[in-house]
Amino acid sequence: MKKQNLTIVGGGSTYTIGMIMSLIAEKENLPLKRIVFFDQDAERQALNAKATEILLREHYPEVEEFVYTTDKAEAFANTDFFFIQIRTGGLAMRKQDEQIPLAHGCVGQETCGAGGMAYGLRSIGDMINLIREIREYSPDAWILNYTNPAAIVAEALRREFPRDRRILNICDMPAAIMVSYASLLGCEIWDLVPEYFGLNHYGWFTAVRNKQGEDLTRVIKERILEQGIAPTDPEIANDPSWQKTFKNIRRMLTDFPEYLPNTYLQYYLYPSDMAAKEDITNTRANQVINGREKRVASLCQRIIAAGTTRHEELEADIHGRYMVRVAASLAYNRGDTFIVIVENNGIISNIQDDVMVEVHARITNDGPKPFAVGKIGQFYKAMMESQLAYEKLTVDAWYSGSKQQLVEALTLNRTVVDAPKARAIVDELLHANRDYLPQFFGGR
Ligand code: G6P
Ligand code: MN
Repeated sequence: MKKQNLTIVGGGSTYTIGMIMSLIAEKENLPLKRIVFFDQDAERQALNAKATEILLREHYPEVEEFVYTTDKAEAFANTDFFFIQIRTGGLAMRKQDEQIPLAHGCVGQETCGAGGMAYGLRSIGDMINLIREIREYSPDAWILNYTNPAAIVAEALRREFPRDRRILNICDMPAAIMVSYASLLGCEIWDLVPEYFGLNHYGWFTAVRNKQGEDLTRVIKERILEQGIAPTDPEIANDPSWQKTFKNIRRMLTDFPEYLPNTYLQYYLYPSDMAAKEDITNTRANQVINGREKRVASLCQRIIAAGTTRHEELEADIHGRYMVRVAASLAYNRGDTFIVIVENNGIISNIQDDVMVEVHARITNDGPKPFAVGKIGQFYKAMMESQLAYEKLTVDAWYSGSKQQLVEALTLNRTVVDAPKARAIVDELLHANRDYLPQFFGGR
């Protein structure tokens, strides 16, 4: 097995240490020769990197070289895989994305609805520039992107790089849900093969089988309806917000029993309830700043101070492992099935071709080979079409600088709908994002 060179873009992310633990756990599936961290924030990255040096020395000595840098030439050349996880505006802007819609009685969420629109508008420019720069140095590398909101980022990258077949947008949410299915069934996620369709953070499992082809869908549904379902992946299992979210899977399945829903559909099916239960002074951004961000920073500090990881309990989570397994399937042509974001082109036959959909696909060294979904039912088609119009109008507006298109986007989004509210929210979000979005203020 040829050993791979990996660059993690966003080395300062709160997810980086988890990714390193996943790379360690998965080293037999994806053996690495070199790991590079790149970030524009040297200080944030250094903390992760210094802990990573110790982690690798003790748990992954097979890695011959580990570099962390803010230099693009050093980070982007001679790389087989890029994992990208950037957040333009950081958690400070996430807070605004959540609070502004909530102040108008609408869902305030980082990737859904109005907040997702603002986050999308901020992400598009940085992602396009980043991919251009990466391609100057590594024209053939696989680029696996986790950057949110994945639906809007994927649509922008589809338009900007139509011939680049080595950019793959992925989300870990379906996998995190499958970890919980596996817990219900008493097996491992890797034993399960999903059938899935939708948009990112907006989709449904139509079936779940085991590797032998046995259909487990009915058992999963029955268990959820009887006993509910909880998050079990270590990263989210003890988080009250994720526990509440998983509780809503049972509610959704009761109300819409045909397919198994993605957790994010709660924001679109119960927008009033979701907005009402939020505390505008303590949104998810606050919880992440006080939770994951602090937890990861203190873990790094402890490892660095002790000079060893011996006193720490290290656990890989599905967020990292899923990405690593997709990379392994690309690198070694394993043909495993994963849920990924790809251009529709007839996969869902009654949805237009030129949209990014999230579906199950066989992952080969020639990229994803999606399975045909065929014709979907009227309810799902209508749900998807309003949402993808919101996504497309948001990307259109990023190019045109048209505020009107943003108002249209939110009017079509199930978390807003009301046109005067849409306009008021757009005004406030644009104002809060003026430093990131000169195109809406007569400049570029
Ligand atoms: C899931 C989604 C990601 C999202 C994350 C947010 O993993 O798939 O797209 O970024 O949840 O989690 P957080 O804990 O930051 O709210
Ligand atoms: Mn996601």
